[in-house]
Order: sequence, then C-alpha cells, then structure tokens
Amino acid sequence: MSNYHIKHLEEYFQVYRKSVQNPEAFWEEVAEEHFFWRKRWDRVLEWDFTKPEIKWFEGAQLNITENCIDRHLRSRGNKTAILFEPNDPGEAAEHITYRQLHERVSKFANVLKEKGIKKGDRVIIYLPMIPELAISVLACARIGAIHSVVFAGFSSTALATRINDCGAKMVITSDGSYRGNKTIDLKGIVDEALKQCPHVETVLVAKRTKEKISMKNGRDHWLQPLLDKAYADCVAEIMEAEDPLFILYTSGSTGRPKGMMHTTAGYMVYTAYTFKNVFQYREDDVYWCTADIGWITGHSYIVYGPLANGATTVMFEGAPSYPDFGRFWEIVQKHKINQFYTAPTAIRALAKESLDFVTKYDLSSLKVLGTVGEPINEEAWHWYNDHVGDKKCPIVDTWWQTETGGILISPIPYSTPTKPTYATLPVPGVQPALMDENGKEIKGNQADGRLCIKFPWPSIARTIWGDHQRYKDTYFSAFEGMYFTGDGALRDEVGYYRITGRVDDVIIVSGHNLGTAPIEDAINEHPAVAESAIVGFPHDVKGNALYGYVILKETGESRDRDNLKKEINQMITEHIGPIAKLDKIQFVPGLPKTRSGKIMRRILRKIASKDTSNLGDTSTLLNPEVVEQIMKESL
Ligand code: WT7
Repeated sequence: MSNYHIKHLEEYFQVYRKSVQNPEAFWEEVAEEHFFWRKRWDRVLEWDFTKPEIKWFEGAQLNITENCIDRHLRSRGNKTAILFEPNDPGEAAEHITYRQLHERVSKFANVLKEKGIKKGDRVIIYLPMIPELAISVLACARIGAIHSVVFAGFSSTALATRINDCGAKMVITSDGSYRGNKTIDLKGIVDEALKQCPHVETVLVAKRTKEKISMKNGRDHWLQPLLDKAYADCVAEIMEAEDPLFILYTSGSTGRPKGMMHTTAGYMVYTAYTFKNVFQYREDDVYWCTADIGWITGHSYIVYGPLANGATTVMFEGAPSYPDFGRFWEIVQKHKINQFYTAPTAIRALAKESLDFVTKYDLSSLKVLGTVGEPINEEAWHWYNDHVGDKKCPIVDTWWQTETGGILISPIPYSTPTKPTYATLPVPGVQPALMDENGKEIKGNQADGRLCIKFPWPSIARTIWGDHQRYKDTYFSAFEGMYFTGDGALRDEVGYYRITGRVDDVIIVSGHNLGTAPIEDAINEHPAVAESAIVGFPHDVKGNALYGYVILKETGESRDRDNLKKEINQMITEHIGPIAKLDKIQFVPGLPKTRSGKIMRRILRKIASKDTSNLGDTSTLLNPEVVEQIMKESL
C-alpha cells in the first residue's frame, strides 16, 4: 500500500493507526518513496519537547530544489511548473515549464552567488506575486541561503524589523507592484526601511510596473541584466537534513515578530505528502492556491509541496475583486483549475456579491476545494459547496499554522465525510490532544479544550530565529511535553475537530494573524496617546475586525477626535501595514484592570461584540466604574 493516495475512510484509519503506532517507520516509508536523497538518513527522529529539540532524518543530505525541479526534468521537462496569471486579465498568462524553471532558478542562484551570498546567509524577499518571487525563493534554496519572505503589504518599519532580526545582507524586491487598479511603490518602501538597516549590502530589483524609482549606486542593481549574463546551470548545494531552509515571521503576543525557522528534509517530506493527500493531486491536474507566497500557505502549498510533486501550480498576482468579483471564477474556467484553495474571508466577500459572477463561468473542472486561515462559518461553507463546487467537490477545511509548516488537521477528499465548520481528522502522523485549564488531557469524544499536539511531525518549526527561549516559552511551556497551538478546539461525538479560534492575544483579521501588542505599540507611539488596548469583534467579511480602546494624554484631550482616529490608523499603517487598521476606535478614560494591573480583555471583547448581558467574573476588577462608562459610550 502506498502512503500516498488514501482513498477510503477505512484506509485512512488503517494508515492513521499505523502512523501513530510507529511514526518513525511511517515517515521513513514516505521519505523512501518519492524523493531524491544525496545521502540516506542515519536516524529518522530524535526529539525532546522539553528542551525543545526536534530532528528529522538526521544524517541525510539533499537539496530541496533537486526534488522540486531537477528530479522532474526527464519525465516532466515540458510540463508547466508555474502558471503565472497577471493582475491585468488582458496580459497573457505565462507558462513556465520545469525545464525553464530549472534555467531561471539556476541563473538567479548564480546571481546570488556573484553578489556574495553563501550557504547560511539570510536573504529578505519583498516581492509581489510575480514569478521572480517563487524563483528567488528556490534560488536561495539552491545555494543554501536562508530565505525570509516578507509579505509585500507590510510597511517599511515592519520590513526593517524583520531585516534586522535575521541579519539579512540582501533584499530582493521590485520597482513596484500591482494590486487591482492601484500600483504600490515597493522600492520606495524598501529605501525607507533600509535607512534603519546598515547591514544590507545589496538590493536586487525586478522590473514590474516600470515606474521611475531611485537606485542607490553600489547597493541597488536591476535584476534582469544580471540574469542575462548569468550561467544557466548551478550545482545544488548539498544540505544536511536539519540545515535551515527559511525563516518566516509571524505575530506574537509581544511587539517583536517571531521568526519561525524551518529546516530542510522534514519540511520537504511533510509538505509533499500532505499536498498530494489533502488535495488528491493527480498528474495532469492544475492546482491553484490563492494565497500570497509571503505567508506560510504560499511557501508550503504554492511552491514547495506542489513542485515536489511535479505539479502545475498557479500563481495569481491580482485581487479577487479586479476587474470584477468574477475574477477567481474566470481564472478557474480559463486554466481549467482542478484544485482550488482559498481563505474564508475571500469566500465571504464573494458570497456578498451577485451570484451571476459565479454562474457566468464554467467551473466543471473543479474537483477539490480548500479553505485555510481561520474558522469557516457555516453560511460561507454552504455557499462555497453549493455555488462553487456544485455540491460535487469535497471541501477540505485545512487547519495548520506558520509554526506547523504543513496541514495538520483536514479531511482527505473522497475518504473523510466532510462536516461544515469542522477541520475533521488529523493527517496521518499527527497526534492532537485537547487540554483542560488545569493542564490535564481531556480524553474521549465530545470534548472542548486547548489544542495541543503530543508528538512531532516532520515540518514543525525548529526554533524562533535568535530566541530559542521564546520558542520554548511560547509553545512548549503551557502544557508539559506538548506543543501548544494557541487555538481552542472541540471534538464531536465521532472525533472530528472543530477549531474555535485563538485563545491568546492573536486576532485573525481577513485570514491574517495580528498580535494585539504590536498594534498597541504602534498606537502608543502617537504623541497624544497614553495607553491602548485592542480586541477583535465579529465582522461578516473579515471574520474579525479590530476595536481599539484608547486613553488620551491630557494634551490630546482638546484634539479633534475624527482627526485623531485618522492619525492613529495612519500610525498603524506606518508601523505594520494597512491590514492592521482599526475599524472602531473608542476614546476611554481608563481600561478595566485587575488588581495585578492586567487589562481584562475579556470584558473589552464583550463590549466590542455588544454582548454585555453577562460580563462573567469581575471580582478581581479594580475599576468597575470605568467599565460602566466604556459600556455607555461604546460604538
Ligand atoms: C492560525 C495560524 C496555516 C496557514 C494560514 C494561517 C487559524 C488556520 C484554520 C482553519 C480554523 C484556522 C488558527 C491558527 N487557522 N487554519 N482551517 N480553521 N482556524 O497561518 O498565520 O500562522 O495562522 O490560523 O487560529 O492558529 P498563520
């Protein structure tokens, strides 16, 4: 029996049982089946969640790009690897074959080398969704440089923080980017960021919008002329299994983002395995994930997972609403997409528009639909199922995280009966546990608790770059010997999991993880602001929107409130990016605090959600009069 295509629920249970009875034998079999190893591993797994230390396939040597590209050249050389669909529907799509990808990655890798980048160096990639993004990621991996992609919607301050945190020597960017009918001056943002980053020696600039930008002599180089001169072959660097592959930043409960570090062999094996099983990818399918490569979804399920399977993966530069709300479905029809993977926030936004945008197009090529990033509500699930999938396509509600590297809980199409709003069952090899408030595991079905994972899977992040203690504190200290996800979940009577949302200070807005602390830090930078607290409240498209409670300094009291609100959102845009802007801002005289000085966010959340009939236990509340006033003036 192949570990690859699981076809029936019975088979799922068989595979699952085997995978947990002997995880090492299970993953060894997967690793043996489809990859190209320069040297075989000595040990499959070594782990200790208390340190924490996790090593998969130690002793093995490989290069992930040989697995994602070279390995396919003989049988799939002329097959499309990356299908690029530009922002403007009038611009032709670009089909990059595996052979062309090999050449473009090799040339790019040679440019990196020529500019002094070596194995272990960090390279920041700040690019829109154009082919150079995927190619530069792979070029780094080709030579063993550690890529760190920063989503091109982040501000210059957020970019600078990440550049400095990982000590990058190089930034790869473009002149600008398109988003719908707007252009964004990416190079200008990079220039602004680099004022704070003295260690960056080189900036490579891809041409996209052709707008006039400034180039700093000696530091900045147009990419194309360098590529034109580069040699079209680049020997892949031989990497150890646990050599870092990339760093990807995610928000946390303090102001500093966490650089999640992923390593080579385990990440490759896991993303390839889950891609093939969760999407039931078949050789000639065309697969499209609408995420941005600036997030983990794009890393694992646009680039590495699909390419490791020799798949055709679509990269879309634009927005779902441009030129109109039918764009996604127009692309599905045009490229005969078989697997389509998107976020609940996009589904909700499209479901609000006329159904004509959907019915106008032939979506009969679709076989599997996916969702990721936040809990999907029942209404959105049914809309997706009925109108996009025509009730024929299984929906895979895939639960995972930047930290997990790959999908951990998801239905397997055509095997796992789906249930709206349920991510259903763990992927083989994944051992979830629900924990109660006292740190005890809740056994049996019909349970509700904090979601942990008991045993390592190959693509778990190995550390937070430069701060192993924080890695331990954040993920391995809440529940002894377990990885804590930060999510709450319930388990139904048959053992299906439903993720109920974050139980920490992270709020998911339109599928983007936002920590409350960095936003509060940004607001507090405003000279008129004394203190602030951010909570989420339900929003019918974004899932959650942000509600800010702001205490003004005396000097701010006389200022115009509407102007202040604008300035506060401007502050957030500068420090983080427009995705973190507040929907509502309420100026308050104080914040509800406990005697120990902790803000009682629970109360603020209730007020923001207009759910104040029962505020719960307020016995430790220091200042009940403030709560009364906030409630009276709430928005
Ligand atoms: C958080 C991780 C994994 C790629 C995108 C997000 C939430 C993710 C689901 C889902 C309910 C989900 C969780 C998780 N989440 N997928 N299918 N159902 N919630 O990665 O930015 O690291 O966010 O997203 O709360 O902890 P991320």
